[in-house]
Amino acid sequence: MEMVEAKPHYNYLLILFVIFMSMVSTGLCVGVNWGTMATHQLPPEKVVRMMIDNGFDKVKLFEADDNILGALIGTDIEVMLAIPNFMLQEMSEDPGVAASWVDANVTSYSYSGGVRIKYVAVGNEPFLRTYNGSFQQFILPALKNIQEAINHAGLGSQVKATIPFNADIYNSPDSNPVPSAGDFRPEMRDLTIEIIQYLYSNDAPFTVNIYPFLSLYGNNYFPVDYAFFDGSNKPIKDGDYVYTNVFDANFDTLVWSLNKAGFPDMKIMVGEVGWPTDGDKDANIENAKRFNQGLLRHVLSGEGTPARKGIIDVYLFSLIDENAKSIAPGSFERHWGILEFDGKPKYELDLSGKQENKGLIAVEDVQYLLKRWCVLNPDADDLEDLPKSIDYACSQSDCTALGYGSSCNHLTVQGNASYAFNMYYQFKNQGNWDCDFSGLATVTNEDPSDDKCQFPVMIAYGSSMVLHMKLLNILLAILEGCIVFLILVC
Ligand SMILES: *[C@@H]1O[C@H](CO)[C@@H](O)[C@H](O)[C@H]1NC(C)=O
Ligand SMILES: *[C@@H]1O[C@H](CO)[C@@H](O)[C@H](O)[C@H]1NC(C)=O
Ligand SMILES: *[C@@H]1O[C@H](CO)[C@@H](O)[C@H](O)[C@H]1NC(C)=O
Repeated sequence: MEMVEAKPHYNYLLILFVIFMSMVSTGLCVGVNWGTMATHQLPPEKVVRMMIDNGFDKVKLFEADDNILGALIGTDIEVMLAIPNFMLQEMSEDPGVAASWVDANVTSYSYSGGVRIKYVAVGNEPFLRTYNGSFQQFILPALKNIQEAINHAGLGSQVKATIPFNADIYNSPDSNPVPSAGDFRPEMRDLTIEIIQYLYSNDAPFTVNIYPFLSLYGNNYFPVDYAFFDGSNKPIKDGDYVYTNVFDANFDTLVWSLNKAGFPDMKIMVGEVGWPTDGDKDANIENAKRFNQGLLRHVLSGEGTPARKGIIDVYLFSLIDENAKSIAPGSFERHWGILEFDGKPKYELDLSGKQENKGLIAVEDVQYLLKRWCVLNPDADDLEDLPKSIDYACSQSDCTALGYGSSCNHLTVQGNASYAFNMYYQFKNQGNWDCDFSGLATVTNEDPSDDKCQFPVMIAYGSSMVLHMKLLNILLAILEGCIVFLILVC
C-alpha cells in the first residue's frame, strides 16, 4: 500500500518542482498588500501559510509588526516594510531615530534564514493633496536618513528605501489629456525630481499607487470598460500609441513625466492596485475579479504598456478586508480584500496570470465564535428608538454593506436593524449584554443571511475581549466545579 501511495506523491513533488522552476525562470511574481486595520486579526502564521500555499511571493506591510515579521521568518516571501507618515518628522530631524528604526525593524531580521526585507517604504502617499503638503518638508530627509542607516548596517545592496506615491503626483493637462503630455504636479515638481534623483542614484524604484476604480468612482461620465483590461469602445490615441485601459494610460503618464525629468530608465513599481467588492455600485465581486484577473494577465504577460515593455511589478491591494479602516474616502474602503475578513477567498483568481479558473486557497483552521446572531426581536412593539439604536450599533461596528449599491442594500427596515445589531454583537465578541438594545434585539441560532447579504459570525481571534471571555469561562467552569464539589461534599 505504501509503495502505491508513494508514486503519486513523487509526481506531485515533481509537478510542484516544475511549476516552481517555471516561476523562477520567467520571474513571475505577484505581491500583495497586507493591511491590519481590522478589529479581529487572523493569526499571522496562518496567513503566511496561506500566502505560501497560493504562491504570493511578495508582501507589503504598512507597519513593522513584530508578530507578522516573526511569522515571515524563514520564508522566501520578499517584504516591503513601511514607515507610517506620522513617524516621518522624527526620522527627518534625527538620523538616530531612523537608525534605531532600521536596527530594530530591518537589521534584526536580515540574517540568513530570517526575513527577506527588500524595500523600506518611507511614508505612504505623503504628497496626497488632502494632506495639504504637511509631510512635504520631511520626506526627502527621512528617505535619506533611512537609506543611510540601511547602508551603515551593511544592507545597502539588498535593501532599498522607496516612497509609495499616490498617482495624483502627476497628470496631463485637461486641454490635452494624453499620457505624452504628462508631467509632475507643478508645485511639487522640483522636490519630486530631487527625490527621484536620490532614488535613482541608489538603484531604488519609483513606487506609485494606481487606482482605476477611483477614476470610475469619482466620475459618472467615465467609460466603464476603460477601467478594465478587456478592450474599450473608446480607446484613446496618443500619437502612435493606443490606450484601451486607464491603468496603462496612467502608468505611461508617469513614464512620460520621468522621461521629461531625464530618467527614461527609472524602475517603476506599482505599490497598490486593486478593486473593492462592496460599498459602492461598481464595487462588487464580478468587477473585482474582472479587474484583478485582467490586471494580472496583463502585467505578467510582459507586453507592458505602449510606452514601456516588460513585466510590471505590482502589489495587489489588498489581501484581507479591514473592517476598521476610515471610510472618509468611501464605504468601499473596508472591502478591498481578495479574501474576506476570515481568510476565505471571495472569487477565483489565477496568480500566474494565465486566466485559468483557479481558486485561491483559504486560510486554514480558522476559529469562529459560536454560530449565533443578534437580530431585531420580532416581538418588539415599541420601535420608536429603533433608528437611534441602529445608528449607535453602526457607529460602533461596520454597516458599509447596507449603503446604496452595496450587498445588503435590499434589506427592509427590519433587515437593516438586524444587520446593524448583528454587526455590533459580533464586533463585541457576542457578549450576552451586547444583544439587547432596550429589548429591541434578540439572539438567534438561525443564520439571517440571504444569497447576497452575509450576516457574519466573527472570528475568535485578535481581540483581548476574546481572551478575557475565555478566561472568564474557565473561571466560571472552575467555580461551577467548586460549587458542585461543595454540594457533593455537603
Ligand atoms: C519598529 O517599527 C514599529 C512599527 O512601526 C515601531 O512602533 C517601533 O518604534 C520601531 N522600532 C524602533 C526602535 O524604532
Ligand atoms: C487640509 O486643509 C483643509 C482645508 O483647509 C482642512 O479641512 C484639512 O483638515 C487639512 N488637512 C490636513 C491633513 O491638514
Ligand atoms: C437601510 O439602511 C441603509 C443605510 O443606512 C439605507 O440606505 C436604506 O435606505 C435602509 N433601508 C430601509 C428600507 O430603510
